[in-house]
Amino acid sequence: MNIAIVLASGKGTRMTNHRVPKAFIDVGGKPLLYYSLSTFQNCSLIDQIVLAVPKEYLKTASKYRDIYGLNKLAHVIVGGATRQESVRLALDYIKAFPEDIVLIHDSARPLVSERIIFSNIQIASKTGAVATVMPASDTIIVSKNGDVVDDVPDRSKCFIEQTPASFRFDVIHRAHQEALKDHINDISDDVKLVKRLGVEVVMVLGERKNFKVTNEEDLEYLLTLLGK
Ligand code: CTP
Ligand code: MG
Repeated sequence: MNIAIVLASGKGTRMTNHRVPKAFIDVGGKPLLYYSLSTFQNCSLIDQIVLAVPKEYLKTASKYRDIYGLNKLAHVIVGGATRQESVRLALDYIKAFPEDIVLIHDSARPLVSERIIFSNIQIASKTGAVATVMPASDTIIVSKNGDVVDDVPDRSKCFIEQTPASFRFDVIHRAHQEALKDHINDISDDVKLVKRLGVEVVMVLGERKNFKVTNEEDLEYLLTLLGK
């Protein structure tokens, strides 16, 4: 079984012109989270979707199954205070076998493609752990204090991470349980949590259009791409 966790429980504090949480911002008549949900719904390899939303939006989001014909949407749950917690709570809801594949996706990336989802599932089924990435086209600068340059790593070794990240259920479940045991609660990246276990994570190629809507400028860009 292949299960998608769609994360929509963040506040969207960098969306300064909007009062509603980022995932619920209106994009051409539909909430932002609708776009990735419908791609997972329409993807033949996906069996089930679990959606994490803020507490105040549980009622609203629970209606999306009927409103948007999302019959794979098995659970709508209240997320946590951090992204890590939202993922863990979603994992707690899933009744999965160890070998089932879990894809974890940010609803803030509305234009995820079927091609990305397919390659995540294909490679995760073989290897157990997958990160979606783009080769860095700009040079990456590392700065500890945000003022001065500490390091300029070799660009050919730098990649920008997107989502989904996908894992065998037993791998991602163990990663989150270990983190909890070690009192780690705010690692926003699942790949980083899985790397703590010493598990190898294989990279698959993302797409430029699978960008994350983080600020108002990103939202304008999205509306342009969608022709809205
Ligand atoms: N997320 C979540 N639960 C949280 C925090 C984040 O489900 N407690 C989700 C967001 O809904 C988003 C994804 O994680 O889809 C990526 O996070 P980010 O882009 O940082 O979104 P926000 O946390 O909502 O935005 P900001 O950091 O600007 O407040
Ligand atoms: Mg955030």
